[in-house]
Amino acid sequence: MPARLDHTIVHSRDRFAAARFLTELMGAPEPKPFGPFASVPLENGVTLDYLDSASARIVSQHLAFLVPDGEFDEILARVQERELPYWADPHHERSQQINHEHQGRGFYIDDPDGHSIEFLTHTYVTD
Ligand SMILES: [Fe+2]
Repeated sequence: MPARLDHTIVHSRDRFAAARFLTELMGAPEPKPFGPFASVPLENGVTLDYLDSASARIVSQHLAFLVPDGEFDEILARVQERELPYWADPHHERSQQINHEHQGRGFYIDDPDGHSIEFLTHTYVTD
């Protein structure tokens, strides 16, 4: 299938606050203004376009980021420095822990709009 995800829209109450939450955790450059969006380009060519939502209710999305081990350690350190809540599981049962599933490590954190952000060091996908 010769199609690759190019970009997607992430609804938020404050597009730059939401985009910065992610870029600051990742140690990535500032989000870029692009039309009505605050854009966050990712390593694999996908861009997350944060958009201020016209609706008061934002439907939570799940965004999972595959990162190398060193970056995972840096991201986790930033989360812990900020004393942010995080979980080893998507159901928020194992608080302030990481998991060692899928031959790697991972954890979940909610962004300011309730989107479920996951950082993991090894993809779920196996051959
Ligand atoms: Fe996931």
